[in-house]
Amino acid sequence: MDRIRIRGGRPLHGKIAISGAKNAALPLMAASLLTEETLVLRNLPHLADIATMTHLLAQHGTELSMAGEHPGGGHMGHVLALRTHDISSTEAPYDIVRKMRASVLVLGPLLARCGQARVSLPGGCAIGTRPVDMHIGGLEALGAEIELDDGYILARAPQGLQGGVVVFPQVSVGATENLLMAATLAKGEVVLENAAREPEIGDLANCLNSMGARIEGIGSDTLRIQGVEKLSGADYAVLPDRIEAATYAMAAAITGGEVELLGARWELMEAVAAALARANVRMQPTDCGVLVSAGSDGLSGINVTTAPYPGFPTDLQAQLMALLATANGAAMITETIFENRFQHVPELMRMGADITVKGANAMVRGRGGPAGSVGGGLHGAPVMATDLRASVSLVLAGLAAAGETVISRVYHLDRGYERLEEKLSDCGADIVRLVD
Ligand code: UD1
Repeated sequence: MDRIRIRGGRPLHGKIAISGAKNAALPLMAASLLTEETLVLRNLPHLADIATMTHLLAQHGTELSMAGEHPGGGHMGHVLALRTHDISSTEAPYDIVRKMRASVLVLGPLLARCGQARVSLPGGCAIGTRPVDMHIGGLEALGAEIELDDGYILARAPQGLQGGVVVFPQVSVGATENLLMAATLAKGEVVLENAAREPEIGDLANCLNSMGARIEGIGSDTLRIQGVEKLSGADYAVLPDRIEAATYAMAAAITGGEVELLGARWELMEAVAAALARANVRMQPTDCGVLVSAGSDGLSGINVTTAPYPGFPTDLQAQLMALLATANGAAMITETIFENRFQHVPELMRMGADITVKGANAMVRGRGGPAGSVGGGLHGAPVMATDLRASVSLVLAGLAAAGETVISRVYHLDRGYERLEEKLSDCGADIVRLVD
């Protein structure tokens, strides 16, 4: 299994091209099942999760063809054409779904187009139990009959899905996306209340509209969908990854460097920029993206609570914790979305971080040292990645720490960070992949 070795203490300087957003690309790929025509997705990141979704779609009958670099330049990524003329199988098998929870996003499209689907339950994962009850309840509200059978969700809607009102009891990105896709082909009007507002959902809705769907309320917590009989193909560019961008923003800050995030969209990062500003990280929009630098007095401790968009994302909580471990003063991080998302804590503590976890709260006593110092108090160590965002928090800590950090199980990183070592070493980091 590959490992990553980092020799820390080098400030990052340069430009990092931000890839297309994984969490937008995955539902957009699933949306291709809704039409027999071709959906072309541009700016698609090269990631293990994207490959998993291509395998899943291929076994449903999707023909996929990948074209080369976008002519606009390196950071535009690749172009994928997806065409599902006929759905050859409405079953999403356990072997693929267990690898990636987002596989459950094929449920809504398969059911809407074919009137039936059999999709494996995703089961638990490292960051918590992550049930799919809201996906199921929402589809039932549109007339689907759903049974759980042998670890599979068996869904049927032989007469097609009907209009209806779905009130989500809790904000869920995946449930909103599944219902949004299913609703596009329903008979009548579907209203989704308490819908998630993540920009990736807006991206999905915009793409669906360009395929002929009729969705209103994009960006709000109430989505109104007038069902149509058929969707057509489209040509759509995936939005830039705000989580990747903010991760590199924190990489720049934790090393006391200055980096321009090319292609990053400022308006998608405002909540994060506001939180980081309190920690003395400076971010500002530029003509090409966002410029980030550490304030001259070193980083400061702050209190942050994760929340659905537009709040501070849970997907940045681990990275923020690494940053705050090097700040001056104490900080408190409260995780409200997932119950088991502090697995990076023991690993960060192996690197010298001072963190106490009590329930959903983590008290981080920054080891920043004298004003102006960076990486204060952290030292390199062998550590283990446990999930995607936890892994990258160890990379950030390693970039700041004195000495050598070796991170094992880096396949987690490959799920969500495209060319991570290359992007960081181009800015002066001493980071290499050790292939065993
Ligand atoms: C998506 C993101 C993930 C991010 C998360 C929260 C993708 C591919 N993944 O995951 O990176 O961390 O949003 O921003 O976009 N829940 C239920 N029942 C359900 C569905 C969810 O109880 O039917 C709970 C979950 O366990 C969790 C909370 O709702 O506690 C939010 O989860 P959700 O927004 O659904 O996350 P995902 O869509 O899986």
